[in-house]
Amino acid sequence: MSYMIAIACLDAKNGIGKDGKLLISIPEDMQFFRDNTKDSVIVMGRKTLFSFKDKKPLKNRINIVFTHNENLKNEYKDFDNIFFVKNELELDKELKKYSDKKVFLIGGAKIYNDLIDKCDSCLITKLDKSFDADTYFPDLEKHGFIIESESENHNYENINYKFVKYIRG
Ligand SMILES: NC(=O)c1ccc[n+]([C@@H]2O[C@H](COP(=O)([O-])OP(=O)(O)OC[C@H]3O[C@@H](n4cnc5c(N)ncnc54)[C@H](OP(=O)(O)O)[C@@H]3O)[C@@H](O)[C@H]2O)c1
Repeated sequence: MSYMIAIACLDAKNGIGKDGKLLISIPEDMQFFRDNTKDSVIVMGRKTLFSFKDKKPLKNRINIVFTHNENLKNEYKDFDNIFFVKNELELDKELKKYSDKKVFLIGGAKIYNDLIDKCDSCLITKLDKSFDADTYFPDLEKHGFIIESESENHNYENINYKFVKYIRG
């Protein structure tokens, strides 16, 4: 299995989403996501794909989506940058085609929790506030990560946040 980089925005209690949506959309964080993942492979769960605008795959990226639904392949046949997998074996096979590219694990909760041990670093936007969430990111310390670096505090609508990079301890 190729090693991946998880990228996520977490609230103060590791919350990441509610009712299929993000807790908050911070413009600078969105830009951080776009800059980091451009021209790379992004791995996600089907619910995260469906949370994108018009359920479309993200441009300038290879989108690999976990699903049990065999029909999706056909529904997305007009896109040349999206591929569906139903287990880690298939993911591995798919990733071998892109061994020259970085691979980002972009969520959601189910996929982060299942595949966090396949990540060797995490780019976390850490908010100082907690929201009403129904999906959570795994505990990074429990999974053997330590902080390598963190930015100074940034601020958006009274929320302080930092960009924190975790690596394996
Ligand atoms: N804050 C952040 O950085 C961030 C990032 C990403 C997402 N999110 C949020 O996270 C939430 C979505 O997370 P989620 O946990 O509900 O869903 P998810 O992880 O995005 O997708 C779950 C779906 O993936 C498929 N799947 C998962 N494991 C699979 C496996 N082993 N084999 C085959 N298919 C598999 C299934 O699709 P089928 O049902 O089609 O079989 C499952 O329903 C949303 O609120 C979203 O906004 C937040």
